[in-house]
Amino acid sequence: MRPMFVLAHLSDPHLGPLPTPRLAELMGKRATGFLNWQRKRGLIHRADLLARIVADLEAQAADHIAVTGDLVNISLTGEYAPARAWLAALGPPRDVTLVPGNHDVYVRAAARHPQLYWGEYMRGDDAPETAFPFVRRRGPLALIGLSTAAPTAPFLATGRLGREQIARLPEALDRSNREGLFRVVLIHHPPISKPARYLKRLLDGADLRAALARHGAELVIHGHDHAHSLIELEGPQRRIPVVGAPSASEARGKHCAGYNLYRVEGGSGQWRCEAIWRSLARDGDTMVETKRIVLGD
Ligand SMILES: [Fe+2]
Repeated sequence: MRPMFVLAHLSDPHLGPLPTPRLAELMGKRATGFLNWQRKRGLIHRADLLARIVADLEAQAADHIAVTGDLVNISLTGEYAPARAWLAALGPPRDVTLVPGNHDVYVRAAARHPQLYWGEYMRGDDAPETAFPFVRRRGPLALIGLSTAAPTAPFLATGRLGREQIARLPEALDRSNREGLFRVVLIHHPPISKPARYLKRLLDGADLRAALARHGAELVIHGHDHAHSLIELEGPQRRIPVVGAPSASEARGKHCAGYNLYRVEGGSGQWRCEAIWRSLARDGDTMVETKRIVLGD
């Protein structure tokens, strides 16, 4: 029996402000994204709220932090180094694991930017470079990172894993299982979306769900929907909890900035994982625990 391990999970910080884009950077999809940021998103995602969330997270003394993407907004080259500094303030690469989101590869020209600037945060143990899926062992956990970040046409926010990642996933899941680890799959897009989010769904979600149903995982965590969520997927022996984290910086209507904690204890075949949802109250300062649940109970 191992001691309890605490994993913190934050997502979609959408760090601002946007640097001034070069004219050449404002072609195609970035142009609509830039206007959208100026008119709406820039007001919704607030640095002060994010700082409050991070301070609360740090007070929890988590053993590790998972970040499920959308650090930046329209993939301007100037967005990546400040995001790297934000990551470094959160923790060193050994304590923080990242997977990219659709806003991190908003256009084709930015396809390699996440690896280039944040590679050390999304790399398997001892791997010289980023390749998905990657596996990191931390305490009783195997953190299995997937990338759904792929450039799309304007007004789409879909994601895609692609054949290669799907083909390599079973081996990562099986090996971690043989090692008796609690498998946590990190992914930006949820494995399945509500019909209303059809234009923002994971295109090969059915393939991912089939791999999980066959090879299993103890937990899947994601962002993208900017809301706390909990569903279950079919697994080989038991159902797999899938938990979504809200944006860590957003304040709009019923959406409040927040993050999740997972407290894992036990061992192979007898895991216990408690999920805790923490959110910022409307005053923008008080943190509230909105849910505490033992997953799979
Ligand atoms: Fe997002």
